[in-house]
Amino acid sequence: MRHLIDIMDLSVYEINELIDTALDIIEYPEKYCEVCRNMKLATLFYEPSTRTRLSFTAAMMELGGQVLGFAEPNSSSVSKGETVQDTVRVVENFADIIAMRHHTEGAPLEASKVANVPIINAGDGSHAHPTQSLTDLLTIKRELGRLDNLTIGFCGDLKFGRTVHSLIQAMSRYENIKVILIAPEELQLPERFKSKTPNLEMREVATMEEVMPELDVLYMTRVQQERFLDREEFERVKDSFVLTLKKLETAKPTMRILHPLPRVNEILPEVDSDPRAAYFRQVGNGKLIRMALIYRLLLWAKKNK
Ligand code: NCD
Repeated sequence: MRHLIDIMDLSVYEINELIDTALDIIEYPEKYCEVCRNMKLATLFYEPSTRTRLSFTAAMMELGGQVLGFAEPNSSSVSKGETVQDTVRVVENFADIIAMRHHTEGAPLEASKVANVPIINAGDGSHAHPTQSLTDLLTIKRELGRLDNLTIGFCGDLKFGRTVHSLIQAMSRYENIKVILIAPEELQLPERFKSKTPNLEMREVATMEEVMPELDVLYMTRVQQERFLDREEFERVKDSFVLTLKKLETAKPTMRILHPLPRVNEILPEVDSDPRAAYFRQVGNGKLIRMALIYRLLLWAKKNK
């Protein structure tokens, strides 16, 4: 059974295939509107979500399938102490595929060990978020026309930001990628993620201004308040980097600003109307790539039966 727990579960060939499927969906949506008829997706969200859960839901609906699940674990047997493995063993009786978000790193992996239906990791703690990476890759491809030969600046909370961890790994699959890490001392990319991508050229800088002219993509992130144990530390770093129109003055006209959202204070609303701001277009790509992913995983599951 194929699951998507980590972005490295997919080969670069498979990632490109998913992107091509998403592009095909844009061009020929009618081809896909019944492909998941009589199929059900369960969304098990143990952590808050707006975009990820709703885009999974919309994706399955547009494929002709149906959706069930919970967005609030306290409304399920989780509140009675049921383990994720038991919950999955139960839910697989009602659904053909499961998308799970959990505050504990590794929970979707544990679930996949007992599951007889594909499990998709929709974010686990501060670890990984592979479907956001697929969204980001589709966005870069649509906005810039390529996934090779890019300089990408990752800015903000590189310590707890799971979307950053997954996207850096995904980018290590492509040619001639330069990664620039822009974070305060306290929020730097953990060593365990750096060591996973030895082939990537990486450099750390203190400000976004000093690298702005070089960047093809500026990937902004929110400081992950919910992951801080120390409230004072959060208060100290929360406004470390704020993108303004002034700071964009030296950026290439073709540069693109991505953000997994939600944004708090790290991009001022004045930036939204700049053509380089791609973060709201990125949201729509999230639905398209999840359509491609659900469709593919269900096809692979059918073949393996
Ligand atoms: C991100 C997440 O949940 O990790 N959001 C998302 O899925 N688009 C980023 C965040 O919460 O900051």
